[in-house]
Parts: sequence; C-alpha cells; structure tokens
Amino acid sequence: MPQDTIAMFDEHAATYDQTWSAMAPLRDALQLVLDSVFAPLPDDAHVLCVGAGTGAEILALAEHHPGWRFTAVEPSGPMLDVFRGKARTLGIVSRCLFHQGFLDSLAEGQAFDAATAILVSQFVTDSAQRRVFFRDIAHRLRPGGLLASADLACDMGSEAGKRLLEVWFDMMSVSAQARERAKAIYGSQVAVMPPEAMDDILQEGGFDRPVRFFQSGLIHAWFARQALDAR
Ligand SMILES: C[S@@+](CC[C@H](N)C(=O)[O-])C[C@H]1O[C@@H](n2cnc3c(N)ncnc32)[C@H](O)[C@@H]1O
Repeated sequence: MPQDTIAMFDEHAATYDQTWSAMAPLRDALQLVLDSVFAPLPDDAHVLCVGAGTGAEILALAEHHPGWRFTAVEPSGPMLDVFRGKARTLGIVSRCLFHQGFLDSLAEGQAFDAATAILVSQFVTDSAQRRVFFRDIAHRLRPGGLLASADLACDMGSEAGKRLLEVWFDMMSVSAQARERAKAIYGSQVAVMPPEAMDDILQEGGFDRPVRFFQSGLIHAWFARQALDAR
C-alpha cells in the first residue's frame, strides 16, 4: 500500500465528508441495500470495517442495529479521529473498537460475523496484493461470515465502459481538460478494473460466488460468504 495514498487521506480528512457530500444519495442507496445484505446477521453481531474512513458505513449500521459492535480498521489517524468524534456525538463509542493501522496489525480475537470494505480495495493497485487484502479479511471471519465490498469498477477499454466513464465524469463535474488526468489516476493510484475481474479476485481471496448487489455509476458492490474451509 503506497504511503502517499494514506498521506492523502491524512491531509484531506477534515474536509473529506464535505468534499463527497454531493455523492451522499449514492451512498444512501448503497447503504439501503447493504442493510438487507446484512439482514441474516445475529442481533449481537460483531462487524469488522476495513478502511472505515470517517465512519459512514458504521454510523448507518449502528443506528439500525443497536446490538451490533464494530471494529474500525483505518490506517489514517486523522480519518479515524473524524469518525471517533462522530461516534462520540452519536453515543456509540462503547460499541466501537478504533484500530489505527492496517488489518495485519489488528490483534487476533474472536472471529467476526461480517466485514465491510467500502471503497477501499481499489487503492490496492496490485492484483495479487488485492487478493491478499481479501484473504486477510476472510481469515478474520467465521466460516460463512458475510463480506460486503464496494469499489469503483469499469471496463475502461470497452465501448460501454468508455461511455459510462463519461457519464461518471459529468456527474462529478470533471472538466474536459481534467478527464485524461483522471483516467490516468484510475489506471494507477486507483485500480479501476472490470467488474468481472473483481468477481475473480473476491473468489481467489477466499469468498464463495460473489453477488453483485449494487451499481451506481462506477460504484459497484458485492457480497459473498467466507469459504476458506471449502478449499
Ligand atoms: C475512499 S475512503 C472510504 C472510507 C469509508 N469506507 C467510506 O466509504 O466512506 C478509503 C479509506 O480506506 C483507507 N485505506 C486505504 N487503503 C487501505 C488498506 N489497505 N487497508 C485499510 N484501509 C485502507 C483510507 O485511509 C481511507 O480512509
């Protein structure tokens, strides 16, 4: 994981929520379906949230499920601090464990019932490392535990992908001049890959038959069950 990615989140943590506020309707829609994906979880579920950022997914899940506990794994201290502040305001600190670092530095403990990685694995640009990213999550889940993962995905080489990308840039108000640079970033700092390639990475990462449950523009989301014992 390039440290400059984390430094970028450190630098922009204070303004992160405001910067992405225009995308809130997409996040709300993703969250709505995610709630149903996680419906089979028990009332006392323990959820691992990798790349928790400023806490968007945890705050929404915590509100709907008062018995759930959360472990937030986040390498950027400033992003985690923003989340901690919001968790205090909402009175859910006692249900959260805040871990500043990557998943490999989280102490081993009881297996989690479910995990989220929302808009995180796209920053792991090497495909082999991305498989390891998911395998590390799979190892922290109980057998059959649920993963929900979302990433920017697009087959940028296909005609349909190119057209979708233009719609995405329009929605994000990316100027015509900035689009070539944005495309270069999507091929380097952020690994935007075809959705089918993500299906394979999730399976190779230890999850059974991923289901694509959401798409809005470039944001795609999958759920899958941990299947390490089945191998
Ligand atoms: C785009 S933000 C998404 C945050 C939050 N999940 C959300 O949807 O609002 C990505 C977050 O993942 C973190 N991150 C990047 N690479 C990571 C990795 N390998 N493991 C854990 N977190 C990572 C970043 O520091 C950043 O806070």
